[in-house]
Amino acid sequence: MKHRARQARSARTLAAQAGVGADRAYGAISAPIYPSAIYHYEKFGKHRGFDYSRAANPTRDALEKVLAQLEQGERAVAFSSGMAAVSAALGLFGPGDRILCSDDLYGGTYRLFERVLRPLGLVFDYVDMGDAARIEAAVRKRTKALFIETPTNPLMKIADLRGAAAVAKRHGLLTLVDNTFMSPALQRPILLGADLVIQSATKFLGGHNDLIGGAAIAADADLGERLLFIQKAVGAVPGAFDCWLLLRGIKTLHLRVARAQETAGLLAEFLAGNPFVARVHYPGLAGHPRRALHMAQADGPGSIISFELRKAAAVPDFLGALRTVLLAESLGGVESLITHPSTMTHADIPLEEQAAVGLTPALVRLSVGIEDADDLREDLEQALGRAFRGQRRKKS
Ligand SMILES: Cc1ncc(COP(=O)(O)O)c(C=O)c1O
Repeated sequence: MKHRARQARSARTLAAQAGVGADRAYGAISAPIYPSAIYHYEKFGKHRGFDYSRAANPTRDALEKVLAQLEQGERAVAFSSGMAAVSAALGLFGPGDRILCSDDLYGGTYRLFERVLRPLGLVFDYVDMGDAARIEAAVRKRTKALFIETPTNPLMKIADLRGAAAVAKRHGLLTLVDNTFMSPALQRPILLGADLVIQSATKFLGGHNDLIGGAAIAADADLGERLLFIQKAVGAVPGAFDCWLLLRGIKTLHLRVARAQETAGLLAEFLAGNPFVARVHYPGLAGHPRRALHMAQADGPGSIISFELRKAAAVPDFLGALRTVLLAESLGGVESLITHPSTMTHADIPLEEQAAVGLTPALVRLSVGIEDADDLREDLEQALGRAFRGQRRKKS
């Protein structure tokens, strides 16, 4: 079943009407939830498009259809988590194959690559994906794919998506892009030459911190078929209710992303001017080293900001003093969340490797939600003040 948008409809319209048309029996506007594992055959050898829900499920089918449309791909394949989507994508490769990756990656992805897949024979190389010449220089004989995050988690480094895809084409590699930080509302890597896009649907697509989900979206039908086979063979599929929650979350994707991004711009400026903050990593700030590159491939800077406090020792007091921003590990939802990557999301990356890419213990990552912007700014301001006054008291 091909899922690419056949009509030239705006992504906002497609998202708002996610799941509309899925109910062919009664025309329900909200896609029906089919919690059935199995389907009654009409007669021997003939079913109505579904036989067993690990292979296909009507609610999941409605979700996959809209995901393919939003990412402008040919086929989307939904998974039970973002990590299940990443590991399914890596299932396209085998022992001895090398994957050239962004040198700053979500800690769970690094853990999968180094602790699960490397022992099985895959080899991972890491490079700064911001410069096509550097990427080209890092391609080796057995390199089979690029695996890119942009902006990266958590340092907000920007990859050159067009340049990377061009290098990949020249060398016959696949370009895989984890588009979680931007969501399809802000960046569509397939239009820039990527072969496969991965989403942790737990984040912006779901948007409400109430589900774990993932998706891989293929630019062409062949790759889509290979992923569908892996989905069925491995079986890391989302349940029908989670697919429905995702369909509902997607309806407000663009509104949520726009609102959070507007607030993130204000907060990034505030943080950049705060005396207790040493450095802010946000591609919307004039000082971000690859702002122009980012804005040439995305529709906006998004709503994730990472920043370094002047002193790593102040981090626990700062996080403890926040009242509105919640200390929790995720991102992309309606609630503003903050994490300490070094000890939380990226704790499985050895400290020397964290240091080598610039991930310091002074760094925190803020995912801006849709709350009132003044409430968030005041909360950050009071918590920074309290943390650093506390530091002074400890010294004296
Ligand atoms: C960039 C990125 N990719 C993938 C994942 C994994 O997604 P999940 O937690 O849904 O398995 C995460 C989770 O934080 C992430 O930040």
